Amino acid sequence: MATDGGSSMPNVQSNIFSTNKTLLRSKTLYKYVLETTVLPNEPESMRELRILTDNHEMGDMASPADEAQLLRMLIKLTGAKTTIEVGVYTGYSLLATALALPDDGKVVAIDTNPEYYELGRPFIEKAGVAHKVDFRAGLAHERLNELLADEANHGAFDLAFVDADKTSYGRYHEQLLRLVRVGGVLVYDNTLWFGTVVLPPDAPISEEDHRIAAAVRDLNASLATDGRVEVCQLTVADGVTICRRIV
Ligand SMILES: C[S@@+](CC[C@H](N)C(=O)[O-])C[C@H]1O[C@@H](n2cnc3c(N)ncnc32)[C@H](O)[C@@H]1O
Repeated sequence: MATDGGSSMPNVQSNIFSTNKTLLRSKTLYKYVLETTVLPNEPESMRELRILTDNHEMGDMASPADEAQLLRMLIKLTGAKTTIEVGVYTGYSLLATALALPDDGKVVAIDTNPEYYELGRPFIEKAGVAHKVDFRAGLAHERLNELLADEANHGAFDLAFVDADKTSYGRYHEQLLRLVRVGGVLVYDNTLWFGTVVLPPDAPISEEDHRIAAAVRDLNASLATDGRVEVCQLTVADGVTICRRIV
């Protein structure tokens, strides 16, 4: 989550909602993708939650519909049964996950703000997938440490989706590498931070965005050379990085 760090410049992600959060330079092309492939295949419960979220004051935090479709596809392709989500907000990506998991699947979902989650919970319940969701309120590094304290959780997860405070991704990566099994998948959201990663230091964006862009650049450099994972950078949404744990 980015807030304006006291700078007079707006954050780059302001006014971004579920139908225009993309690095694609052609809005027409993005609209075409959404209208042709993404939105017609979006489950009704997700559509309802997306609309509620779009109208929320922090609506720009939600993953866009094409990214949620990618997440559902990844879960199904990998046959993931046990996953972790770091950064839930109203639960749009969480609902995508819960719908994609098999009936006996589980997602441990972590967020500091249970009030946001409560907004989305009725949609998760109505979709009949609440039994797959284990929501844990609190700071992600603390909740992940609690999971790590139980050795049974080591290597027990098939996939993790990280979409919380961007400056902590490096820390989460170290924790998640112990929780996700070899061959499992770690997905990081916002890894191009609206394109700011290539802006010069004097670019007219907020101090907060400069700070996040620097952290995301460090993360990308570190993931690209991390011998424990195979990495793939996508330009979906504002950057999604997929890592496959190899050792
Ligand atoms: C970008 S939103 C998540 C969006 C969600 N994945 C979706 O698709 O709708 C980021 C969330 O991370 C949570 N968050 C921020 N810092 C956190 C931290 N240190 N630990 C846990 N959650 C955190 C915020 O409360 C916010 O709900």
